[in-house]
Amino acid sequence: MSREKQVAIFGSGTGSNAHAILRAAREGRLGGQVAVVVTDVPGAGILDFAKEFGVPAVTIDPGKRGGGRLADETLEEMESLMLRFSVDLVVLAGFMRIVRDPFLSAFEGRILNIHPSLLPKYPGLHTVRRAMEAGETETGCTIHLVDAGVDTGQILRQERVPILEGDTERAVYARIQEAEHRAYPEVISERLENL
Ligand code: GAR
Repeated sequence: MSREKQVAIFGSGTGSNAHAILRAAREGRLGGQVAVVVTDVPGAGILDFAKEFGVPAVTIDPGKRGGGRLADETLEEMESLMLRFSVDLVVLAGFMRIVRDPFLSAFEGRILNIHPSLLPKYPGLHTVRRAMEAGETETGCTIHLVDAGVDTGQILRQERVPILEGDTERAVYARIQEAEHRAYPEVISERLENL
């Protein structure tokens, strides 16, 4: 029997996507198991979900490079963590750091990210506000492979949601998150199947 595929989730915040992925794994919908949850933010909400689901959690020190960049030693630590947990697929779920070489090359084609806009529109921060200010009538989320750019890389899935008359930023973002929680476990499962 082949070994179960192992996923690592990286996040810096609340972890609602991590929760959706952990639930999918528990319900047998992920095609793999979550081996480890990694955060760069001590006490981040995502750690509570790791605990709830009995998954090991590791807090890494991002170092002091600034601008969202990870220190060389942090990238090395991340790589050895992935080896230690035999990770097949790295899933970024609200991880607000830029992943770069040598980690990137070590996991080429095996790092996914989710972003709250219809990329290539609105990379970066405040995506919902910027879409609304531009008068868009729809926005959504994008799941893509991670490359050396910020919110670039091959797009694997996009989900669209409407921006309605009188909508608040919060309402639109809630609609996007609903779509994220549905789509991300599905895309992870497809990706794991093709590894
Ligand atoms: C998600 O909405 C994700 O799209 C966004 O962070 C949020 C994390 O929420 N990611 C980015 O903006 C990456 N550029 P969560 O912690 O509740 O999953």
